[in-house]
Amino acid sequence: MAIRSLFQACLLTPLVSLTAAKPIQGRIGSFAETQKLADPGYGPVPGQDPLFSSYYGKDAPFPAYLSDVVLPTKIGPPGEDDQVWQNLLSAEWIIFNFYQQAVEAFNTSSFIKAGMPNTTYQRIQEIRNNEAGHLRIFQNQISATSLKPGACEYQFPFYDPISFLALVTVLEVSSMAFLTGLVQDATLPSSQAAMLAIAEVETRHEVWSLMEIWKTNPFAGPADTVFPYANQILDTTGAFIVPGSCPKLNPVYPSPRQGLPALSAASDTTSLIPGSNIGLNFTDPTNQPSFAAGTQYYAVFFHGVANISVPVNTTAWPAQEIRVTIPKQFETKGVIVAVVADTPGAPTTDSVVAGPGIILEQPAELAVELI
Ligand SMILES: *[C@@H]1O[C@H](CO)[C@@H](O)[C@H](O)[C@H]1NC(C)=O
Ligand SMILES: *[C@@H]1O[C@H](CO)[C@@H](O)[C@H](O)[C@H]1NC(C)=O
Ligand SMILES: *[C@@H]1O[C@H](CO)[C@@H](O)[C@H](O)[C@H]1NC(C)=O
Ligand SMILES: *[C@@H]1O[C@H](CO)[C@@H](O)[C@H](O)[C@H]1NC(C)=O
Ligand SMILES: *[C@@H]1O[C@H](CO)[C@@H](O)[C@H](O)[C@H]1NC(C)=O
Repeated sequence: MAIRSLFQACLLTPLVSLTAAKPIQGRIGSFAETQKLADPGYGPVPGQDPLFSSYYGKDAPFPAYLSDVVLPTKIGPPGEDDQVWQNLLSAEWIIFNFYQQAVEAFNTSSFIKAGMPNTTYQRIQEIRNNEAGHLRIFQNQISATSLKPGACEYQFPFYDPISFLALVTVLEVSSMAFLTGLVQDATLPSSQAAMLAIAEVETRHEVWSLMEIWKTNPFAGPADTVFPYANQILDTTGAFIVPGSCPKLNPVYPSPRQGLPALSAASDTTSLIPGSNIGLNFTDPTNQPSFAAGTQYYAVFFHGVANISVPVNTTAWPAQEIRVTIPKQFETKGVIVAVVADTPGAPTTDSVVAGPGIILEQPAELAVELI
């Protein structure tokens, strides 16, 4: 309870302005200072400065305290992959703030008291630093003719060290799946390589949490999960954004945005391992699916590089819950991404009518707690 109040207090306390002379750390910088980020050479360089790996302060590191939008400095057509990088930068603001809020809410002893290794807080700070480096890398990938999105305000459903660490595991493995889709949206090989390099770092974070936090075998199957529709995953992260808090100039997040109904397992679910029969819950009462009479719908489950479609009966919905069995062929490893689609295999973005829902399989015990 104490930690919950502390966390809420942190969320409510307005961040104080700090006039930092050097671009190393601080809280909220001015709009004018933020515009300096348009120069890729401004401030510490990711990969060349320990700030993005081994900085142990509580304050947000560069460039995160400069959270306004960065305006274009040139007129002209956008770079080929600018929209993809804008989506990724907006998503990164969410992930960075997830870790930054934890760094501010907790300390070394919070995690030791929760029974975690005495290095946990340090690792969380280090992951936070990596995420700050991602912010800078993504800003620099957006060309000078396009706007670099700024930060919104965020709220996360964690209230103590354990619920935070559970979310770390699911967010990192979801990032890994999400990047397998985003890389398909990018056209430049250099963009694709940079995204792969980022996915690898998310994997390191995930492996750390599996080994050190959950004390499990960190290995998954031969391939992590490929899910082609990155923006559908990004859309689900909108739940972390405080409504109306984004900079007015930010592009729609994600762009393009389908606004599909959110999908989760019903709250009475006791197991999410392959072979389990689950009820589907479309969790947003203001955004429910509509199923056409006479159309056969499918729950499509993505795991590894494959997907398996299971027909679902939607005729009596919503009076009767839609139930489906998670394909028992899948290994209880990594993550399963589930959607409801009007075509087996969900071959196009538009064939998806609800979801995605992220089903954590490793550690499987955590999955049910996260519903
Ligand atoms: C960690 O936070 C707790 C709760 O706010 C506080 O009592 C404790 O002194 C802090 N420990 C350190 C080492 O800062
Ligand atoms: C942290 O834990 C390790 C192993 O559990 C122990 O060897 C080490 O002394 C501890 N370090 C501190 C600073 O408590
Ligand atoms: C569906 O999700 C909503 C929102 O999380 C929740 O309030 C509701 O109890 C859930 N219903 C079922 C049947 O799981
Ligand atoms: C679908 O559900 C309806 C209503 O419960 C039922 O009448 C129908 O037989 C079911 N269809 C199939 C193919 O199971
Ligand atoms: C799902 O698998 C089927 C069969 O292998 C494939 O044709 C389809 O393209 C896959 N769906 C996606 C979205 O990759």
